[in-house]
Amino acid sequence: MSRIVYVNGDYVPEEEARISVFDRGFLMADGVYEVTSVLQGKLIDFAAHMARLRRSLAELDMASPATDAEIEAIHRELLTRNEVTEGMVYLQVTRGAADRSFEYPDGAAPTLVLFTQSQEIADTPAARDGIRVITIDDIRWGRRDIKTVQLLAPSMGKMAAKAAGADDAWMVEDGFVTEGTSNNAYIVKADGTVVTRDLSHSILHGITRAAVLRFAAEAQIKVEERPFTIEEAKEATEAFITSASSFVKPVVGIDDAIIGDGRPGPTARRLREIYIEESLKRAI
Ligand code: PDD
Repeated sequence: MSRIVYVNGDYVPEEEARISVFDRGFLMADGVYEVTSVLQGKLIDFAAHMARLRRSLAELDMASPATDAEIEAIHRELLTRNEVTEGMVYLQVTRGAADRSFEYPDGAAPTLVLFTQSQEIADTPAARDGIRVITIDDIRWGRRDIKTVQLLAPSMGKMAAKAAGADDAWMVEDGFVTEGTSNNAYIVKADGTVVTRDLSHSILHGITRAAVLRFAAEAQIKVEERPFTIEEAKEATEAFITSASSFVKPVVGIDDAIIGDGRPGPTARRLREIYIEESLKRAI
């Protein structure tokens, strides 16, 4: 069955969806995106994703194609039409189509595209057994807090991980871990303190990160928001990542080092349980 996708006001079968060759998303990666996870047919943390979308648009001086309420209605319509109960909704806004020029065009209408992807996210082997990451240089641009569609560097990172027989990569800049290729990175110290990099232009301000840190505080888990080195990570008792598509996922190996006893640790497991339970309560 072909998917129904949303393109600039229309719901169309994916084979019929069309975007201009002059779209600046295509020509210049002049676009931003959001990925919202879906569990039990409900949207997780939708309002926070919309808030970050607004911020990304504002940082790039890009026009908004629709209101939050309109975008929510499109999400819901796509879930219904495609019968999605678990997976994600992908949303992309670009500056629209215009003659190729480095300057932003005047008055181009923004492009809005949304599609769904059905996939298991709550109960996956990687969530149960943990993943292994390699470490790579962070070669991305300097505004990683803006969720743009420039994803070649993370794609290259995932391919390097695959070539090395690992699952993903953590990126390192000036000796400190920034984040995973498509997720935020955490370690847990011997005393149970969770450490994750503080917010800045160097990392994406993860929606899952914000929720997990809130739930950690409520569960009396101590959190330090500061940079950490790969050496510190390799000596940690646990490590994990967070993102909309992985929730909280344990990391059991970093390069050649085994983390803890090589199995998902109690903090990551507990935070994953709390995250799923609490997010579902608030899901819409
Ligand atoms: N990635 N850091 C990076 C570089 C990311 O691309 C992502 C999300 C995150 C986690 O953010 P959030 O918790 O809001 O999903 C951190 C999405 C899921 C993706 O590109 O598929």
